[in-house]
Amino acid sequence: MAELFNVYPLYDIEPTRAQGSYLWDVDGTRYLDLYGGHAVISVGHTHPRYVTALTDQLNKISFYSNSVKIPQQQELADKLGALSDHPDYSLFLCNSGAEANENALKLASFHNGRTQVVAFTKSFHGRTAGAVAATDNASIVAPINYNKHVSFLPFNDATSVLTGITTETCAVIVEGIQGVGGIQVATDDFLQTLRRRCDETGAVLILDGVQCGYGRSGKFFSHQFSGIEADIISMAKGMGNGFPIGGILISPKFKASYGLLGTTFGGNHLACTAGIAVLDIMKDEGLLENATRMGNYFMDGIRQIGGYKDLRGRGLMIGIEYDFPVDALRKTLLFEHKQFTGVAGKTIIRLLPSLAIGVDEADQFLEALRMCLNTEQTEVATENTVK
Ligand SMILES: Cc1ncc(COP(=O)(O)O)c(C=O)c1O
Repeated sequence: MAELFNVYPLYDIEPTRAQGSYLWDVDGTRYLDLYGGHAVISVGHTHPRYVTALTDQLNKISFYSNSVKIPQQQELADKLGALSDHPDYSLFLCNSGAEANENALKLASFHNGRTQVVAFTKSFHGRTAGAVAATDNASIVAPINYNKHVSFLPFNDATSVLTGITTETCAVIVEGIQGVGGIQVATDDFLQTLRRRCDETGAVLILDGVQCGYGRSGKFFSHQFSGIEADIISMAKGMGNGFPIGGILISPKFKASYGLLGTTFGGNHLACTAGIAVLDIMKDEGLLENATRMGNYFMDGIRQIGGYKDLRGRGLMIGIEYDFPVDALRKTLLFEHKQFTGVAGKTIIRLLPSLAIGVDEADQFLEALRMCLNTEQTEVATENTVK
């Protein structure tokens, strides 16, 4: 029997059904989903409109290559341009976040003919060659991925970019809110300085919106809080609510030509149908507004509970940093309270729920968190007494 290549540590849980913000395992136990499988579930699991749209499309045609007309691609581009307020940008479709960043870097290099890339400390841009080279985590960069093209500057340091970005720089790639790096929000000053410096030097400014984009922050893209325009915006995750799809939004300053970029699967009928359903639901159900409202609700509740070292994020992208390792806390939330959360690093709980999450679900989390922290404090107090 062939074994699976063992790269993922697994929880002993097998979800077999999901709806909205809930999952049910093989034994029928219900779990609250506050993580969306790494920020992927945007409009909620098995949303009826999403299921109907995909089922209907599957019964018609699911795939043909990019050598024929696929009108769903244009519909997706139109709706994305309208909802994200980028009507004059064009869309290139692919299948994942890493691939989106890979294409963004390639397009930047085709555009200005340069090779040097500036990325930032604690960045995560994916695991393909160019994307991983721009990722600040040596343990996932294979020797073949190392290249002399990428240099890392300190995130949110507006001074170092003045000298670190030069007329040699091809592209600057940055997350509007770092996800894997610990829910670090880029400051307005930092992003505005990046924009100015890229304009001065001719470098291409790439905003990686793979995790923080698609409405998660309460705006369609989190860098829109800073009032800057990116040259290229990458996206994936919430774009398909679980169906693999990624893409880049490209400023009108870039000229397309046949063969410049390409993909077999990107933009297929099913992926576009998933993408269109997500945008329709986001618009009709006011999910950007809900992300803002519910983000504030979570933040207020977490503040009232207290006990943390730092609380960061925007909308439904929330990091709670503690001064102790959170592995046990996450496990208690999962196995005792039946709630999925995420982590970033060793001390940060990361919340990335569906943009449609409601007050009832938030209250369940807040109650569970309160109970866990009380227990934690009791345990620490007991330990101290024993010592
Ligand atoms: C900011 C960011 N960029 C890129 C990626 C890579 O996306 P994918 O796993 O779809 O390749 C991720 C994934 O976590 C991400 O968080």
